[in-house]
Amino acid sequence: MNKYLLILAVDTSCDDTSAAVLRGDTVLSNIIASQTELHRPYGGVFPTVAKQAHKENIEPTVKTALKRASIALGNKTKLTINNIDALAVTVGPGLAPALEVGLNFMKDLAIKSQKPLIAINHIEGHALSALAQRNHSLKKNDTLDTKNSRQLEKLIESNKKKISDNSNNTNINYPVLSIVVSGGHTEFILFNKIGEYQILGSSIDDAAGECLDKIGRMLNLGYPAGPIMEKFAHLGNPKAIDFPLPMTTTKSFDMSFSGLKTFSRNYIEDHFGDTSLNQQQTYDFCASAQYGVFRHIMYKLSKVLEKYDVAEIWLGGGVAANVNLRKMIRETIKNTGKKVSNSDTKNPKLSPYPTSNNQINKIIFRTPYSKRLCMDNAAIIGLVAGYKFKRGENVKKLETLSRLPRWKIGD
Ligand code: KG4
Ligand code: ZN
Repeated sequence: MNKYLLILAVDTSCDDTSAAVLRGDTVLSNIIASQTELHRPYGGVFPTVAKQAHKENIEPTVKTALKRASIALGNKTKLTINNIDALAVTVGPGLAPALEVGLNFMKDLAIKSQKPLIAINHIEGHALSALAQRNHSLKKNDTLDTKNSRQLEKLIESNKKKISDNSNNTNINYPVLSIVVSGGHTEFILFNKIGEYQILGSSIDDAAGECLDKIGRMLNLGYPAGPIMEKFAHLGNPKAIDFPLPMTTTKSFDMSFSGLKTFSRNYIEDHFGDTSLNQQQTYDFCASAQYGVFRHIMYKLSKVLEKYDVAEIWLGGGVAANVNLRKMIRETIKNTGKKVSNSDTKNPKLSPYPTSNNQINKIIFRTPYSKRLCMDNAAIIGLVAGYKFKRGENVKKLETLSRLPRWKIGD
C-alpha cells in the first residue's frame, strides 16, 4: 500500500466512538471514546444512550485523532482535513442509530472538504486488522518536521511521489483464513484477494463474545465480561466442568453458542441453586466456560483446515485479545501437522509480510499488534479504506449512501 496515503476514519458501529488517521497501513492515531461506563448499568448496549453519546463525542474524537496524527508525523503544526486524501466511515453492520451518527458526520465532512468518502464494512475491518502496522515503521528520514501547514502539505505531497506504490500484497500468502471473534460476530472468512470474501461458516445464534458476556452476567462479573473471564480463567481449572461440544454431527462450518449459555444456566441452577459460587468455583466456571466456547471454535477450525490448505490465518475482533484463544489456535494449526509461523509485527526489524509460503508446510498466524486494534476502533476501518480507495471504490453518490445495519461481508 502507498505508505503516504493519508486516511481519516470513523467508527460508531456500537458503543465506542472512534476516529483514526492512517498513513497507508500505519496507524498514526487511533482515538476511542468508550461508552462502557454509560452502558454498564444496563448490562449491554442501550441504543438511544449510545446515539446521544456518539453525537457528543464525535467531533472532539476526530479533532484529537488529527492532533495525535500530527504529533506522530513529527511535525509541530496541525494536520488538518486539507492534508487528508480520503475519509472512511463504517456503514454496517451495527446498531442503526449509532451508525447513523458517524455516517452523517462524515458525509457532511466529505461535502465540506470535497474529499472522497469510502463506506466500510465493520467486519472487514476486524478481518484485516492483523495487517495494521505500528507507527515505528516511519523511518527517521521520513519524519515530517515542518513549521507551517503549507510546508507540511508540500512535504506530504513530495513523499507521496517519492515512495512507489507497494500495495500489491505480494507478500501475503493466499489463501488467507480470517477468523473474526467479537461480541456481535463469529466468522470464518476465506479469501484469495483482499475485497473478495467467502464466508465459510458463522454463528447461527449468539456470537462467541456475546456468549461469554451472557455467562459472565450469570456469574455477576459485570459488563463486558470477556476480559474479566479471561483473568479469572487463568486462576481456574478448564476441565472442572465438562461443557458440551456443539454442532459435531453437521458437516457445516457454522457454529452455535446459545446451547453453551443454556448449559451454564442449568448447571448453576442444578449445582448452586440460589447460593452464589465461591471464589474458586467462579474461577473454575470461567476457565471451563471459556474453554468450552473456544473448543467449539477450534473444532470447526480444524474441520476448515482439513478441507482448505490455507497459507495464513488472521485473527480479529474483541475476543482476539484473549491469550488463551491465540494459544488454542496455534495448537490447532500444529495438530494439522504444519508449523505455526507468527508474524511479529511487534518487532520493527522483521518484515510484517513474511516472504515464506505454505510450500514449506507452515501456516503464518497473524494477530493485531495491540488489544486496541481487537476492539471496535477506527484504525481498522481506515486500513480497509486504503485498499478500497486504491481500487477506486469511493462513494459516487453521497446523497444515496445510508447505513446498512445487517451488511454481510460477502455481499
Ligand atoms: O469487537 P468488539 O469490541 O465489539 C464488537 O464488534 O462486538 O468485541 C467485544 C467483545 C465483547 O463480547 C467482550 O466481552 C469481548 O469482545 N472481549 C473478550 C476479551 N476482550 C474483549 N473476550 C474474551 N477475552 C478477552 N480478553
Ligand atoms: Zn466489532
